[in-house]
Amino acid sequence: MQKLLITGGNKLTGNVIVGGAKNSILPLICATVILNGKSTLHNCPDLSDVRAALNIIEHFGLSYIKKGTDIEICSKKPDAFEIPDELMRTMRSSVMFLGPVLSRCKRAVISLPGGCKLGPRPIDMHISALVKMGAKINFSGEKLEFNANKGLKGASIFLKFPSVGATENIIMAAALARGTTRIINAAREPEIVDLANFLNKCGANIKGAGTSRITVGGVPELGNAEHTVIPDRIEAATFMAAAAVTGGSITIENVNCRHLSAVNYMFSRCGCNVEPRGTMLKISAPPRPNALRYAATGVYPGFPTDVGPMLIGALTVGSGTSVIEERIFKNRFAFLDELKKFGADIVRRGSVAAVNGKPELNAARCDCTDLRGGAALIMAALRANGTSEIGNLCHIKRGYQDIAGKLSMLGADISEIQR
Ligand code: UD1
Repeated sequence: MQKLLITGGNKLTGNVIVGGAKNSILPLICATVILNGKSTLHNCPDLSDVRAALNIIEHFGLSYIKKGTDIEICSKKPDAFEIPDELMRTMRSSVMFLGPVLSRCKRAVISLPGGCKLGPRPIDMHISALVKMGAKINFSGEKLEFNANKGLKGASIFLKFPSVGATENIIMAAALARGTTRIINAAREPEIVDLANFLNKCGANIKGAGTSRITVGGVPELGNAEHTVIPDRIEAATFMAAAAVTGGSITIENVNCRHLSAVNYMFSRCGCNVEPRGTMLKISAPPRPNALRYAATGVYPGFPTDVGPMLIGALTVGSGTSVIEERIFKNRFAFLDELKKFGADIVRRGSVAAVNGKPELNAARCDCTDLRGGAALIMAALRANGTSEIGNLCHIKRGYQDIAGKLSMLGADISEIQR
């Protein structure tokens, strides 16, 4: 089993380069199902979730070649319309193949998606949108079968919540549909803009991405394009939290500072000096972060739910009591029990955590419960006295490429071992 060994106490300093965004590359790979010809994606991170998505397109008969951080994908109409159970369970985002496959093949069969254990993760908005676009749905055992014999048609779709995945799925389903689709209360995350930009380069007609009203005019067919994946704002925020928890001073390269406004503001409130400089961001942290009287996660442009755990990790050594509310996922706080093993003083009431900052943490043996919860454990271990052992690394590998190597370049005492 792979584990991280981290001996805490080193202040992080130096420069680190962020990779392409996990939450962008995954929908971009899904989108290649509705394209024709060879597309090239630049700045692709090497993550287990990305490999899982590539396995799925390969199952559909599409081919790909990896060349460093480039991935070339040859698109054509898929040979299959069912995602086998074992591929479906490898990642939550596999549900994002639903719209593209249904649109291209007029049929799609999926089982319930896998991914992080963040509590109930329903896909009702994905399903009801596709039904509104003309799909018929059939439940057989654990499988969901979708049919759209006459092809999908444009529709007006109101989302009860601005779901990132549902917005992306609808965009991809609508790109080749007959007529115009309007998404009202769409999610506004930068990854949605990235998807729309890529598809528009391939000949799609998508307007309003980045706002809460998106219009997709269906086109008869799509071509291919060359595209650079946007920088991973969550990875950047993870390094900001690592600076904050160790009292360090680091420069993060290959970021889009505009995507990080809420994150920059939050770490400034923690007493960090944050200097955005185009595609670089410098952060210098005080010896202990200032406590936050109250902070909450929210949809973009709010403070990302994916960064909440790392912020909490940093605030375990804050100078006072912080109150953090999670507003997106019911079970985001599953990692708190593991974090307490470092001696962190945290009281949880539902989706609110009160973190009483302590001057010191102690090394612990713990296991990642999910991707970002695992990153929170790394934050605590970077500060703790002694050597910590973090297991269940498969979660970390879903979203971070070489986290040990990057943190070690910043001066952390960290290594990955087989035990
Ligand atoms: C995406 C991100 C994830 C991030 C999340 C919120 C990817 C691959 N993952 O996940 O890292 O944490 O956005 O920014 O991009 N919901 C429903 N019904 C649905 C769909 C969602 O009730 O049909 C609920 C979810 O349970 C959750 C909320 O809506 O409470 C937000 O989920 P959503 O925005 O869809 O997240 P994902 O797209 O799964």
